Amino acid sequence: MVASSGLAEGKTPREGWSSRSAFILAAVGAAVGLGNLWRFPTLAGENGGGAFVLFYVGCVFLLGLPLVVSEIFIGRTGQDDAAGSIRKVAEKSGVSKAWAGFGLLGVIAAFLILSFYSVVAGWVLYYVGVLGGDFLGAIGSGDLFRGALPGESQEMIQGRMGDLFANPWLLLAMHAIFMGVTFTIVARGIGSGIETAATVLMPMFFILLVGITIYGAFVGNLTEAVAFLFTPDWSKLTPQVMNTALGQALFSLSLGVAGLITYGSYIKGSAGLGPTSVTIAFADTGVALIAGLMIFPIVFAVGLDPAAGPTLVFQTLPFAFQTMPAGALIGFLFFVLVLVAAVTSSISLLEVPVAWGIGEMGWSRPKSTMIFGGSAFLVGVACLLGYNVWSDVRLLGFWSLFAETDILDTIDGFTGKVMLPLGAFFTAIFVGWRADRKLVEEMTGLSGFWLSLWRFLIAWLCPLAVGFILVTGLFPEILGS
Ligand code: PHE
Repeated sequence: MVASSGLAEGKTPREGWSSRSAFILAAVGAAVGLGNLWRFPTLAGENGGGAFVLFYVGCVFLLGLPLVVSEIFIGRTGQDDAAGSIRKVAEKSGVSKAWAGFGLLGVIAAFLILSFYSVVAGWVLYYVGVLGGDFLGAIGSGDLFRGALPGESQEMIQGRMGDLFANPWLLLAMHAIFMGVTFTIVARGIGSGIETAATVLMPMFFILLVGITIYGAFVGNLTEAVAFLFTPDWSKLTPQVMNTALGQALFSLSLGVAGLITYGSYIKGSAGLGPTSVTIAFADTGVALIAGLMIFPIVFAVGLDPAAGPTLVFQTLPFAFQTMPAGALIGFLFFVLVLVAAVTSSISLLEVPVAWGIGEMGWSRPKSTMIFGGSAFLVGVACLLGYNVWSDVRLLGFWSLFAETDILDTIDGFTGKVMLPLGAFFTAIFVGWRADRKLVEEMTGLSGFWLSLWRFLIAWLCPLAVGFILVTGLFPEILGS
């Protein structure tokens, strides 16, 4: 047996973040994405607002946050891809290496999410184009601060989404461009690819977010939106709604797909995992709530249905920007904001399988990126065809939960409601019960009260709550409802 360090085997040293803040920026970038700006408002609207939102916030802090600590712990300790990192922690703890299996589950989930994520990001790109063109028109006409899309009726503006969905070539082009960008960044590696992208894009994201939020506070009508988002009607909290909220909390924090295991594995120095994880959870939840407070005032102001579903953001906002001061400019900036957020997340989704290919299959980074980026692109093509040519296809049609859903919604639903909770469940059991306690203490930097609290949450509350929500969400008849 030769020494097991990578260097001793003559390999180049593994890549890593240049600093702790680079890691935080990249991890917040991974967390904040379409999950916050598109999926959260969509789900809050579909599931009746307040009760969903409050239950969601509870899931983030009681279940999500301890899992964030756990995933970063595994990655930072293992210094390898998702499966490899779990295997190393298992080795050091003297337990079965078969635990690495849930790393593979995460890799598959990340791959599947990436495939539809890029399609939705493609819709965003299309709206960047539409509103960007409109804003150029505003500049051309010398009226910089006019509303968006002047002279178009509500039907015309909202009809754009349907036209886009009916056009597979346009969808394909947008999906291809977005996946191409993701691919290019990930192929360049951690330092010059992902870290550079995060350091450029995240500050840009926060400047845009603050700017648009301040603008919204002046021109929007907040009252009804606040009531909708924060007044709970607990009768609306069915087992399925709870399962959706849990899935969304995991999705939004990039949990259950080994995303933070993978990013955490590139941490070189020491890192207090408590403060780091709290930063990620607060940033992520803050952006989701702000997105809700940006979108719902407008939805109610123009009298639209908050339960419109995935098209909510795309149909409602462009119409609202028509009547708002400087709507052309702000509308354009809003979609740029969403696009920026989507890029910093999609690169983390692709990095999970790419790192797995490098670590487990021994592929080079370009080869691994090519294989996973290329195949996720193809699955994405199936998703976009589900809106037109293959609109009758029901991938899991035998299952009542997915009997009505098109290809994209089925993959989205299955990953969110089944795969992510399963990944979270195994993570909690593994870290809470199997990982060596000394190792955990040393590597997380937690101690005293916070260590005990975290231990309780990860060992008891997470497995019980996630397990319960998973089972009752999937098989509601258990509760007799
Ligand atoms: N958290 C991202 C979002 O909210 C999506 C994501 C999930 C990214 C899992 C990485 C891993 O958009």
